[in-house]
Amino acid sequence: MASITIRNLDDEVKELLRRLAAENDRSMEEQARVMIRAAVNGQVGPVGRLDQIEKALHKLATSQGTPTPASALAGKSLPRGTLSNKRILLIIGGGIAAYKALDLIRRLRERGAAVRVVMTSAAQEFVTTLSVGALSADHVFIDLFDRNDEHDVGHIRLSREADLLVVAPATADLMAKLANGHASDLASTVLIATDKPVLMAPAMNPRMWSHPATRRNRASLGKDGITFVGPAKGEMAESNEAGEGRMAEPLEIVAAVEALLDAGPRPLAGRKIIVTSGPTHEPIDPVRYIANRSSGKQGHAIAAALARLGADVRLVSGPVTIADPAGVKTLHVERAQEMRDAVEQLLPADAAVFVAAVADWRTENSAGEKIKKVVGEGPPVLRMVENPDILAGVGHHKHRPGLVVGFAAETQDLLRNAEAKLTKKGADLIVANDVSHQSGIGPSGVMGGDRNRVRIVSKAGVEEWPEMTKDEVAARLAALIAERLKTIVV
Ligand code: CTP
Repeated sequence: MASITIRNLDDEVKELLRRLAAENDRSMEEQARVMIRAAVNGQVGPVGRLDQIEKALHKLATSQGTPTPASALAGKSLPRGTLSNKRILLIIGGGIAAYKALDLIRRLRERGAAVRVVMTSAAQEFVTTLSVGALSADHVFIDLFDRNDEHDVGHIRLSREADLLVVAPATADLMAKLANGHASDLASTVLIATDKPVLMAPAMNPRMWSHPATRRNRASLGKDGITFVGPAKGEMAESNEAGEGRMAEPLEIVAAVEALLDAGPRPLAGRKIIVTSGPTHEPIDPVRYIANRSSGKQGHAIAAALARLGADVRLVSGPVTIADPAGVKTLHVERAQEMRDAVEQLLPADAAVFVAAVADWRTENSAGEKIKKVVGEGPPVLRMVENPDILAGVGHHKHRPGLVVGFAAETQDLLRNAEAKLTKKGADLIVANDVSHQSGIGPSGVMGGDRNRVRIVSKAGVEEWPEMTKDEVAARLAALIAERLKTIVV
């Protein structure tokens, strides 16, 4: 039987076809076949214009007793965004994190991407093809040997008719299969047959993640050009388990997808930018340390936003539980002195953004052994010494970057303190934020929360930004940095 490929279908028609296919649990090809057959048999009028197609879809849908996606869609504009016209093939592996893949599909589609899904048989133990199909509005592919699927699409087309393959959750098994070239089911076959970039979001038990076999597979997949996002540290879904292995959050995966696919303007291409983020931990003894509530969310989001604009970003991060941002070279440090050394070694750079909540003091001598309670001696007295001010060091450095941006976390006198820091630390811009409980930002406040309200303080004056998510603050700050750097020649 002859097969045909239809190119250049209008987005609206494609979307309608996709929705109807999902409603009827058919592939898009199968759905198109049913409609063409119906048209040829005179069941519907000539299929030439969108409204006629909509009518045809309506008729077909109602004749099968299903709701009418065509009429439901009529007059509504389709989602547009950073991923419009991008096609993502999402491979869902079998792990508890598979439930997050549902949100990931929604987030990708919200941004305009078409999402087609392959599920492993283990994945179907965690989420159903019905939910996945409803969210992706497409047929869900599960079987390498399904005659209909192979006839309609085939694993080679499935793997190549996408702009990007995303594996989420990427289990130890899927990683091992690809690292070793196996093609034993649809997911692994599609992965090995593709000529498109692959992004993996690993999720597994911390012991599985740290096993030498997984480390080996991770390293060889990296060498093969596979990009990774996460995993993050933290509580696992299994009770009493914590460590590195938690899948990156859907929005982090979306950011990684955008970074890999974004063909938009890259005004920061060729610019090297250093970012510090997270808290520092200053040891008291081998088991205790001084820390603060910084989560690293704002700093990491800024690093990711700068990378999306094309910058070569070097992130120096204190201890955090969130994943390293995609497309960014991340160095992990614990103490302020280590953070200072890492930053200075990265100089020269075009710009540096100091978001880290660096501990101002450390203990003069951290004890080599755990400090014990001694009856009658009372609590130990900790002698503190000042930590190096990393921002001030760079602000007055002989290799000072052309643009130096600092943050001012204040609980009182926000603007006066921010202005003082601008001069004292040799910064060009200070992003001032109120970290007090009166900031009015969510129950968790700015530190650790997802929202922020900042003011940009420079010699030119103060610019007030409305409250927004930390990702939005990051995107706006990255755009401002790009604008400022335009006037700075290297
Ligand atoms: N900073 C730094 N090194 C330090 C302390 C702060 O690089 N040892 C940077 C922060 O990353 C931030 C800016 O300096 O960009 C201001 O940090 P903040 O904690 O608000 O101010 P401090 O300098 O610590 O002063 P204070 O705690 O007295 O407000």
